[in-house]
Amino acid sequence: MSDKINVAIVGTQFMGRAHSNAYIDVAHYFDLPAAPVMQLACDVDTEVANAFAKRWGWQATEASWEKVVERDDVDMIDICTPNITHAPIAIAAAKAGKHVICEKPIAMNADEAKQMLDAAQEADVRHMVAFNYRRVPALALAKQMIESGKIGKIFHFNAVYYQDWLVDPQFPMVWRHDIKEGGSGAHGDMNAHTVDLARFLVGEIEAVCGAQEIFIKERPYASGDGMGKVTADDATYFLARFSDGALGNFMCTRFATGRKNFLRVEIFGSEGSLMFNLERLNELDFYSRGDSGTEQGFRNIIVTEGGHPYLKSWWPPGHIIGWEHTFIHEIGDLLLAIASKSSVRPDFYDGLRCQQVLDAVQKSATDAQWISIPEA
Ligand SMILES: NC(=O)c1ccc[n+]([C@@H]2O[C@H](COP(=O)([O-])OP(=O)(O)OC[C@H]3O[C@@H](n4cnc5c(N)ncnc54)[C@H](O)[C@@H]3O)[C@@H](O)[C@H]2O)c1
Repeated sequence: MSDKINVAIVGTQFMGRAHSNAYIDVAHYFDLPAAPVMQLACDVDTEVANAFAKRWGWQATEASWEKVVERDDVDMIDICTPNITHAPIAIAAAKAGKHVICEKPIAMNADEAKQMLDAAQEADVRHMVAFNYRRVPALALAKQMIESGKIGKIFHFNAVYYQDWLVDPQFPMVWRHDIKEGGSGAHGDMNAHTVDLARFLVGEIEAVCGAQEIFIKERPYASGDGMGKVTADDATYFLARFSDGALGNFMCTRFATGRKNFLRVEIFGSEGSLMFNLERLNELDFYSRGDSGTEQGFRNIIVTEGGHPYLKSWWPPGHIIGWEHTFIHEIGDLLLAIASKSSVRPDFYDGLRCQQVLDAVQKSATDAQWISIPEA
């Protein structure tokens, strides 16, 4: 096996930067049989792509993803483009025999997601959806604690994801405001993460009932060329029933004035509870009913010990890590899976299951009724 994995990244802005940082750092901190080579950066905007490649150390640029997927000197494609492009790029990449990591939400809808899963499975390539919050050490620890029975049977999974960048009515139209480009707005962007976390930590969701709103119906085009119609949700709230009987409550909005990227998860079980807040991502709060009566209360675990997930590769205890490390962890796990020809989660199946929940919430909001999630 080669000791290098040649990577091409498609899309070179926000997520392009977060993933590039991961490729630069990952082999320094994690033991990888094959290190990534930052071979090719692709963006429709060639000026942006050239500046990006120079700054982040990508060896060459290309404007057409169709040409990228056909290149013999590329082993893996990293999709960091708007949602409407995910399925065509991922399917073509898999058919060309490339491993694929795709940003979330996996696709515009579950039909596309299923086609992506089928293509990846038929080609027998590794596939991953970039739900990076699974790889926050505190949430990976929460998973271990749930699996070892620390909080018993789960009754509730509550997640809020708040941002406020759309409160300003002058914030211009971007692809995220157009349902034809994004499939949804805040919902596919933010609830995609919390639905994936819910599946990761609790299990499958069986039915949902949601409500969506667009608070500001028109926004100015950045070009100064008049106003555009906003068609993607600004906020989506929904209730969920899990297959094992737990109840879920999910809220996401880009109109939570004062909240920048506030993601909080609360899980209540028969033996204890777990709380996580992304603004304090090195910490996990744990309540155990097993503690003695007079000393019961939430304890705050600083998740920086060498025995905590991912932490042995980083710093001594108490030396905290940040948001960007979650991308390093996900890229590291994917590269290991490619080198060892093993599977890695969350994969396109997880992307599809998440998308089925997202689609059902949108239908529920339109039809004003509970909707069951179909089989995969
Ligand atoms: N994991 C996370 O936390 C997280 C956070 C933000 C965004 N995302 C996801 O990442 C994806 C990209 O989001 P972003 O915020 O980086 O977007 P962005 O708008 O900042 O950047 C997208 C880039 O893709 C380029 N592009 C568009 N169409 C293209 C095409 N056909 N071929 C090549 N390049 C093309 C654009 O020119 C732009 O440079 C979205 O799916 C989004 O939902 C994930």
